[in-house]
Amino acid sequence: QAAAPYSGRLAGKTVTVTAGGTREPLDPVRFLGNRSSGKQGAAIAEAALAAGAQVRLIAAHMEVPVPAGVELVQVETALELRKAVHAAAASTDVLVMAAAVADFRPGENAETKIKKRDDGADPVITLVRNPDILQETVQRRAESGTGPALIVGFAAETGDGSASVLEYGRRKLERKGCDLLVLNQVGRSLVFGQDTTEVRILSPLDGPGTEPAAVAGSKAEIARHILDRIAEELDAALP
Ligand code: CTP
Ligand code: CA
Repeated sequence: QAAAPYSGRLAGKTVTVTAGGTREPLDPVRFLGNRSSGKQGAAIAEAALAAGAQVRLIAAHMEVPVPAGVELVQVETALELRKAVHAAAASTDVLVMAAAVADFRPGENAETKIKKRDDGADPVITLVRNPDILQETVQRRAESGTGPALIVGFAAETGDGSASVLEYGRRKLERKGCDLLVLNQVGRSLVFGQDTTEVRILSPLDGPGTEPAAVAGSKAEIARHILDRIAEELDAALP
């Protein structure tokens, strides 16, 4: 893709990207985490910078460098990420939720290191649900009438005997209420940590019979594709 026509498309816009994977503490030295590398989120932040946007990166644990030129907000847990997203929502045109947010956190975060017990009994970890930050942000926008003009969610699905990847994607888009959903098909080669992937971008405005085109490429190419779509949607939304 040529750089020239692309650059400047998001000049004057603020784009907030969440990236990486949250870590939920069990005690001072342990956490529950996930395999998100943050590559896709970092690529989106880079593509947004290249398009001329002001970029805020809300970064949970990432295994790749933070792109130079972003305003960085570092977070650890889903609850911290939620706080950062809510704080950013009022002053961003676009919110891209690329982070892998832990669905559950340990019910207790022990103040001191959990030790093996002398009686040999195994510890039991109780998990509690984390809030759905994406869904919440969509709701808050609807209630307040302010917030990001465009809220973009992500989903990685495998599909199974009862529904296809696309079907699960459509259901998730509807449940979350976001404006676009970037759907990753997770197959034999996992999305996590990989450099190439394939996505479809779903919109609530898609007709019932439509099959959004699948776009394959490096995470940088996918990021540019997503940013192109974001720019189109913003152009269409604004007078
Ligand atoms: N997400 C979020 N808050 C959560 C969980 C997910 O904001 N507590 C966001 C993710 O950042 C992503 C989108 O929601 O943009 C979809 O995440 P996903 O894990 O696929 O959705 P879930 O609703 O958690 O569904 P599942 O049960 O399939 O994990
Ligand atoms: Ca989830």
